[in-house]
Amino acid sequence: MLPPPYYNDDKNSFAYSTVHKRWPTIIQGAIDDVQETIASNKEQLQDSGSIILDQLKQVLSDMEHDAKVRQFTPNEISINSHLSHFNKSLEKFNRNKLVTWQTGPWLYLECYLYQLINNFFIDKKQDKFWQSYDVFQKLKTKTFKQSEFGVFELCKRYETLSHQLNQVTADSETLYLLFAEFIDISLWGNATDLSLLAGNVTLEDIKSLQGAEVRQKNEEKIIVNDLKQAWEKSGLSSKGAERRIDIVLDNSGFELFADLILCLFLLDSQLASEIHLHCKEIPWFVSDTMPKDFRDLLDQLKDGQFFPKIHKQDSSAIQLIHDQIAKYNKENKIIIDHSPFWTLDYNYWSISQFDSLFEELTKSNLIIFKGDLNYRKLTGDLQWPKTTPFSEAIQDLKDSGLTILSLRTCKADVVVGLPEGLEERLVKEYKDEGNGNGQFWSSSGKWAVISFNK
Ligand code: F6P
Ligand code: MG
Repeated sequence: MLPPPYYNDDKNSFAYSTVHKRWPTIIQGAIDDVQETIASNKEQLQDSGSIILDQLKQVLSDMEHDAKVRQFTPNEISINSHLSHFNKSLEKFNRNKLVTWQTGPWLYLECYLYQLINNFFIDKKQDKFWQSYDVFQKLKTKTFKQSEFGVFELCKRYETLSHQLNQVTADSETLYLLFAEFIDISLWGNATDLSLLAGNVTLEDIKSLQGAEVRQKNEEKIIVNDLKQAWEKSGLSSKGAERRIDIVLDNSGFELFADLILCLFLLDSQLASEIHLHCKEIPWFVSDTMPKDFRDLLDQLKDGQFFPKIHKQDSSAIQLIHDQIAKYNKENKIIIDHSPFWTLDYNYWSISQFDSLFEELTKSNLIIFKGDLNYRKLTGDLQWPKTTPFSEAIQDLKDSGLTILSLRTCKADVVVGLPEGLEERLVKEYKDEGNGNGQFWSSSGKWAVISFNK
């Protein structure tokens, strides 16, 4: 029998503060955004915009009053047919216990919420302007703009690397160390925590005590680390082959930038010959990457006004990165993919039901799942004992033939694969740091896991 999911009324779960604080703040942010947009073009957008505003306010009120979560209507399903699956799931959950906003299953309701909001905009009866509107766009752009320092650091690191890769043929050991470094960058990009990025590191440094020490320090916070296994078992350690890597992306902006730096390293070093980036089709969990966010990022890297300090100080590295990404994209070595599957309420064990996506992914040598939400969907967001093996928590994926690597900073309750006794130690450590409930270590974003299954 499977463990139950996390529920919104569990005060020991991060779900509780999510439904009481985070979601209302996010919805209020969406209301403010729409209001601002209407104000910029009242004549065209006032009437259509106020329909959306009323709908958003209704969701906020339902949440605050702990209303029963309703089925999507036939009209809503005619706007987006995928929503019928949400109704089936809701029916099942309701059989157990009536689903309300403040008591229902966390992950299901979070997915439901973003689909519900999306439907307000894409309705064909709406003004065309709103149909492709991303209500989180302004926030995405603003946050990325504030990451200028981190972007600069990464630009310099990549510039140094690319000179070195041109000059020397790195041996397998060095390649693994570099792989581990760029995976680290991509992993912690998920926490937008830049403290890990030590300045310029040479190929020699990487092998030196200092490089090892820096990574060692970071590694302490990576409480499950299957990277070496992933390197060996996904065939990366053997040279010269045509190799496809897939990345199921998480957030746009800085995290996407860090992921693209990883892509450049993988392609430059010929560890990969082709990389597929999987995006969301709708605005999702605020900052997740949609295909247009990839294009926006390329424009932002080129735009001297977007990162003025970088362009003023030293624009060569950012220019190089922009050009390399654009080149690989044009040559179909960085490919932007998308599927509705990523924004449904299925956990990822059901992926084989999505024939064309599944078939595509079976062609991959390694599928990297980025971030917290992807991890929750890989493990079903169930209340697994924390010592459950990752291979068990991903259920049908275990023997699906897909080679899975999850890079995740822990920002929710579910964590698996921990050795005996570690959970208890972390609860104590987090409590001793002055946090009331030690169990929230797993949603603090301070720890990370790198979990692998072939
Ligand atoms: O931590 C709150 C939350 O909204 C979770 O519900 C979700 O899993 C996470 O943030 C999103 O994080 P990420 O962008 O890493 O998937
Ligand atoms: Mg995200």
